[in-house]
Amino acid sequence: MHLIGLREMDRRQMIGLLDRAEDYLKEDGTVTTPASRRRELEDTTVGLLFLEASTGTRVSFELAARRLGADTVIVTPQEGERWREESATDACRTLAAMGVDGFIVRHHDRQLPHMLVDRLQVPIINAGNGSGEHPTQGLLDALTLRRHFGLEKDLSGLKVAIMGDVVHSRVARSDAHAFSKLGAEVLLAGPRMLLPSGDRGQRWPGEMSTSRKEAITWADAVVMLPIAQERIHGTIIDPHDYAMDWGVDSSIMERYLDREAVILHPGPVVRGVELSDPVVDNERCLILKQVTNGVAMRQAVLQTYFASASLS
Ligand code: CP
Repeated sequence: MHLIGLREMDRRQMIGLLDRAEDYLKEDGTVTTPASRRRELEDTTVGLLFLEASTGTRVSFELAARRLGADTVIVTPQEGERWREESATDACRTLAAMGVDGFIVRHHDRQLPHMLVDRLQVPIINAGNGSGEHPTQGLLDALTLRRHFGLEKDLSGLKVAIMGDVVHSRVARSDAHAFSKLGAEVLLAGPRMLLPSGDRGQRWPGEMSTSRKEAITWADAVVMLPIAQERIHGTIIDPHDYAMDWGVDSSIMERYLDREAVILHPGPVVRGVELSDPVVDNERCLILKQVTNGVAMRQAVLQTYFASASLS
């Protein structure tokens, strides 16, 4: 069993993972591993193949694996090194031959997770494939919204704007699939050049807007996106202009954001561009809750995909 994207996952599976992640969260919202679950992945080795930059996701998966009793092996590139898909596949096959039980993979190429699924007999979890998907981020964002708004099962009735560099963002894609399948209304907002268009636009769930004011005023929650400069070919986004037109500072927040509405960001935040310092530190900005919920969600994912593999 593999987790490559949320486009392929149905609502029932998503709710199952959200409910399982709750097992790893205390009433007060902190993350925990109940004693009965600390050996769930004992005798399991999780391979972390992070061949593109990551801090949050890699550490979150590593903590999640260790707290369930697993061993981890980590592969990261040397400075300036760029791993081709064939080298990544060979590395996974070699590690699998040494007894590694499955892989969490981040790579710039959208096809790599699919290649690994074809060539290996162990679970593959996509931790970000270029501008493809980032399924555990979509799930943890859904969990964060469900908990914040006190919703029982799904996100029905919620209006969520996903704003910024939508077209290059794997987080935007996974969030849009998760939120819409869970019953939320989704609005994709950003400058025209950073929104999907034509056939590509039709594959995205949700309406589109090129108005920051419209998106923020409409939303119960705004997911701000980082600019994926490494995936924008031929165009340089000026950070100052972007902050003026699409960033959220205290003044924008006070003027347009509903008093009950919240802001999310997958991190890492470029402070002063996407969000100003006071907004990042405001209690209506849920970034640290996302980070905490991320560990719980990754525990749920590892338990689901790795523990069941070891039984089969
Ligand atoms: N949210 C996220 O993908 O962060 P990292 O790039 O630090 O893993």
